[in-house]
Amino acid sequence: MARQKTRRFEETFKAQNVIEENKPHYMQMKGNWNRDFFHNDQPITLEIGCGRGEYSVGLARIYPERNFIGVDIKGDRLWAGSRQATQENLGNVCFLRAQVQQIEDFFEPDEVSCIWITFPDPRPRDRDIKRRLTNPRFLEHYKQLLKPGGMVYFKTDNTPLFEYTLEVLSERTDITDLEYTFNLYESEYMDEHHGIKTKFEQKFHDLGEDIKYLKFRFDQ
Ligand SMILES: C[S@@+](CC[C@H](N)C(=O)[O-])C[C@H]1O[C@@H](n2cnc3c(N)ncnc32)[C@H](O)[C@@H]1O
Repeated sequence: MARQKTRRFEETFKAQNVIEENKPHYMQMKGNWNRDFFHNDQPITLEIGCGRGEYSVGLARIYPERNFIGVDIKGDRLWAGSRQATQENLGNVCFLRAQVQQIEDFFEPDEVSCIWITFPDPRPRDRDIKRRLTNPRFLEHYKQLLKPGGMVYFKTDNTPLFEYTLEVLSERTDITDLEYTFNLYESEYMDEHHGIKTKFEQKFHDLGEDIKYLKFRFDQ
């Protein structure tokens, strides 16, 4: 297992579509993703906590006219998305290995058109509330990066995290167009699922959990 992880780290380090520490351009991407990586002017979607990057890769397949960047701190998970994108020759998707807390080091204000947050860790303990990826301090980061009117999409199997997120959003005065469902698969929003199931979505759906989904914009 340890050997497999090492091999994956080595492959990821060589992969052109993974931006990570100790690689050229790592700290020079801010404001330059389209110029230096994608070489076009397409709108950028971020997938926060992308894991194996199923959404980034899946959406990149469906929308060649958009660019996708999956962000996660775990290199061995990013390896899977990076490999898939390489095998399919998808030039409109790449991965950033970084802490979401540092996201403003990598993107200029208004550089991002849309954000997906896919099945983040629920962090149920009170002392970990600050680490939930829908905590107010993370929302402030997302607001900074997003162009005016940019949508945020959020999916989870976890009811307490979903309710927490709705509460956080309801306490703000800058949220608009909020829509949500406690059962995506039985809802009018099913088209927005795009037929893409992440690893965690599959796991919890198989265990009988309803998939919760919401979307909103920041009122800039
Ligand atoms: C439960 S997994 C979900 C992965 C994937 N989105 C899915 O649905 O299968 C949560 C992911 O978020 C990443 N993550 C959690 N907190 C993070 C942070 N602060 N910065 C970067 N990645 C983070 C973890 O490394 C993990 O891969």
